[in-house]
Order: sequence, then C-alpha cells, then structure tokens
Amino acid sequence: MNSSIREIIESYNPTAPLAEARTIPASWYVEPRVLDLERRSVFSRSWQMIGRADQVREPGRYITCELAGEPLVVVRGSDDVLRGFFNVCRHHAAAVMTEAEGRVPNLRCPYHGWTYSLEGELKGAPDSSGVCGFDRAANGLVPVETAVWEKWVFVRLERDGPSLEDSLGASLAGQIDALSLDKLHWMERRRYVLECNWKVFVDNYLDGGYHVPHLHKGLDSVLDYANYAIETGERFCLQSSPVVADGAEPQTGQVRKGERALYYWIYPNLMINWYEGVMDTNLVLPLDVDRTEVIFDFYFADVSEQSRERNLASIAVSQRIQDEDVAICKSVQRGLNSRAYETGRLSVRREAGEHRFHRILYGDLKAGVDRFETAERRASIK
Ligand code: FES
Ligand SMILES: [Fe+2]
Repeated sequence: MNSSIREIIESYNPTAPLAEARTIPASWYVEPRVLDLERRSVFSRSWQMIGRADQVREPGRYITCELAGEPLVVVRGSDDVLRGFFNVCRHHAAAVMTEAEGRVPNLRCPYHGWTYSLEGELKGAPDSSGVCGFDRAANGLVPVETAVWEKWVFVRLERDGPSLEDSLGASLAGQIDALSLDKLHWMERRRYVLECNWKVFVDNYLDGGYHVPHLHKGLDSVLDYANYAIETGERFCLQSSPVVADGAEPQTGQVRKGERALYYWIYPNLMINWYEGVMDTNLVLPLDVDRTEVIFDFYFADVSEQSRERNLASIAVSQRIQDEDVAICKSVQRGLNSRAYETGRLSVRREAGEHRFHRILYGDLKAGVDRFETAERRASIK
C-alpha cells in the first residue's frame, strides 16, 4: 500500500495501443499525492481558462479566481493591456480583490489599504515611512502569464512554457475559428460540485458517446449513435455526431438542432459543446481528490428577452444531462475505491479520447516526478 508516487505513476503503461490498453489505475483517482502532483505538473503548467474576455473589456475591469490553490486577479490596465497577477498583497498576503469581478480605478487591499495601480505597481502604502530600505518599486503585485483566445481569458502559473497559441495548436484553433464564436453571447453560469475525482468527469465526457444511450435518453434521441465520430488531436479531442430530428424526445429536440453536435475537449479540463446557435463550456476544477467543481457557461446566438424562455429550456436540457452525469460519476468514484477494481479496458470503437487523455496525463505526471526528484537530489547535494 505504501507505493512511492513514482511507482503509482509508472504502474500505467502508456505504450499499449488502444486495443491492448488499460485505463489509468484506480489509485490515480483516490490518492491525494496524485492530486498534489497534478496541481503542480498539470494545472500549474497548462494554460487554464479563468474567465471571459467580455468581463475585462474596459480599463479597470477585473476578474478573480483560484487556480491550483493560487488566488489570481486579471485586470485591464489604463493602457488597455490585459495583465494577470497573484491576488496576494505584498504586505501581509491578504487577497487584494475580494469580489468575483468588477470595475475599479485601482486595486486596493481591504486589510491595511495598500493600493496598486491597474498595472500592478504599488502606489500607496499607508504609514510606511520610516521602514528601512523599503522599495516601493519592488513591491508590486507578482505577475502571472495571461492570454486571450476566442472568447476566453487564460492564465498559466508556471512561466517559460509554450505560448497559448502553441499549446492549442493550429488545427484546433482553425476548427474553433470556423465556428464564428463571436456570434454567440454569454447568458448564464451554473456550478456543480461532484463527489468524484476530476478525471472521472473527464473520462465520462470522453467515452465517445458510449454512455449516452444508457444514461441520457433525451440526448440519445437527437444523436446518431452509429455515426458518432471521434478524432484525437495532439492535446485535444473532437467527438461529434450528426443531429437527427426524427424521433427526437420533444424537450431535447426543440433546443438541439442543426447538422452536427460538436464536443471539443481541450487537455486537461476544458470542454466546448457546440450546436447550431447554442454553446456551453465546461471547466473541470479539482477541489479535493474526491470532489470536483464543474463550471458551465451557457452561450446563445440570441440572448434578447424574447429568446429568454427558449434559452432557459436549452439550459434545462443540459441541466438534466448534468444531473444524470453527477449521479454516475459519484457511483464510479465509489467503485474506484473498492478493493475489487484496479483498472479497466477501453472500447476501441468509443474510447480513443479517453485513451489519449490518459496518455497525455501520464506524460505530464511522469515528467513532474522526474523534475521533483531532480530538484530534491540537487537540494540534498547542497
Ligand atoms: S495585507 Fe494588504 S495592506 Fe496589509
Ligand atoms: Fe454524460
């Protein structure tokens, strides 16, 4: 039971082709050390979507969030440049901005009133005269890398990795560009807390529609299960299905139209679900090894008052599907804790996306273990 973190990670075989592969082991879903490694090697090193660009359109507009345990704030400066900072006051570490979003002339800490410009420089520090060698210029907010893609703001905690553009890749960026997302407008956000590891939710999403006929009867009635397609990219997966009107369950059929449904997953934790005139994003955030928050943002082509009822009907369909997924994810997490389960096999027809996810994750976690062991060895030599 006392396996090292290296043994736990290396117990997965990433070289097996899909037909021979097994899932990542149950220990990855229940072991707090794996979550800790994921925070450092996955969530801190990948670009993470933290909000919408329209929330920070004008100077002084900001959004706050927490990413891998780090409080962050992203704010548009007076010079119109978007910047991200650790939302940690340089005085005694309080959160400088305490609302989820807003518009301010400067960033003022509520604890002792230190004030930072919208560009992060320390401007005011009450009663700080007489403090020896106090260098105001060295006490600005600590910056974090920030970038915008399509409708969203992203940050990355670790510096010196690939740009957001490079990590998304030209193929994915081109495909999303073709969807003309600027025609869709945000309407509402809903949050769900699931009693499962974050990967259970991602696996469930990436099973190529395998669970849809069994678990989501309404959704199943508008998708063409036999023609459900799965394409895996370098660090993303597109699952898509023709949309059918014949025999559609009425509640779902009314709000899921068009030619095709597109379900994009972007490693590690972002999903974009697109139907004609309707889109939602899912952001999957680990709260603990067996608790996960999934944030849904709903977008529509028409968000006018006249369309409100119809849009709410569309959200209600997503809500029902989500409720069905919440229950099954809880059941899976309980099973992963059972002594009866270690790993499972993957459907070649359906679960290529899940296989891709597990392999990318293995690569990141293995690299993380190597990095930390090297750092520890260096520290012990010193
Ligand atoms: S902690 Fe922010 S002013 Fe003291
Ligand atoms: Fe589902």
